[in-house]
Amino acid sequence: MGQVLKSGGAVFVAEAAHNDLIGFAEVSLRQDHVDGAAICPVPYLEAWFVKASFRRLGVGRSLIAAVEQWAILRGYTQLASDAVLENTLSIRLHKLLGFSEIDRNITFLKTLKMQTAKNGGLGSPPSGGPGTLPGNSGVAGVPPSAPGSLNESDSP
Ligand SMILES: CC(C)(COP(=O)(O)OP(=O)(O)OC[C@H]1O[C@@H](n2cnc3c(N)ncnc32)[C@H](O)[C@@H]1OP(=O)(O)O)[C@@H](O)C(=O)NCCC(=O)NCCS
Repeated sequence: MGQVLKSGGAVFVAEAAHNDLIGFAEVSLRQDHVDGAAICPVPYLEAWFVKASFRRLGVGRSLIAAVEQWAILRGYTQLASDAVLENTLSIRLHKLLGFSEIDRNITFLKTLKMQTAKNGGLGSPPSGGPGTLPGNSGVAGVPPSAPGSLNESDSP
């Protein structure tokens, strides 16, 4: 939630009687590349959840409506989101609520380990090698695309 608020985004909560939290939606403002988005930054639905016993009552739809209203009032014309491939319900509901599917992808990450020279490795890294970038976007040592650049690819 901290990252969402730090980005300039917002968190919406749904409450039942006695202030019981029954759902929430988090929207961030993504400055990096977002597949299919024509604006940058773009509001991005980072989380959308309704407690199981309160589903199918319109709470999820209301949370998305609140997110959309928040974005529209700030002049944004698009809202981006994603879903894991296995979450077919989420994919279906996104479309039901007016989202268009942009792309399907699976991302990969491999932890790289230093090989010793004895094992045929390269030995010590050269000085001035890549550093560790915050987050997991971009290539080590190469910053992700600068804010303001817009092009195609990434997640729905
Ligand atoms: C996705 C989620 C937030 C939807 O919340 P919800 O409160 O059940 O949604 P709503 O009741 O507002 O339903 C919105 C629409 O989806 C439909 N819908 C909801 N659940 C459905 C289901 N299981 N099967 C078919 N349609 C469904 C509703 O009928 C409604 O359509 P309508 O307004 O045209 O009748 C909720 O299912 C959830 O928390 N899921 C687990 C977390 C998750 O997967 N989040 C998405 C991550 S990307």
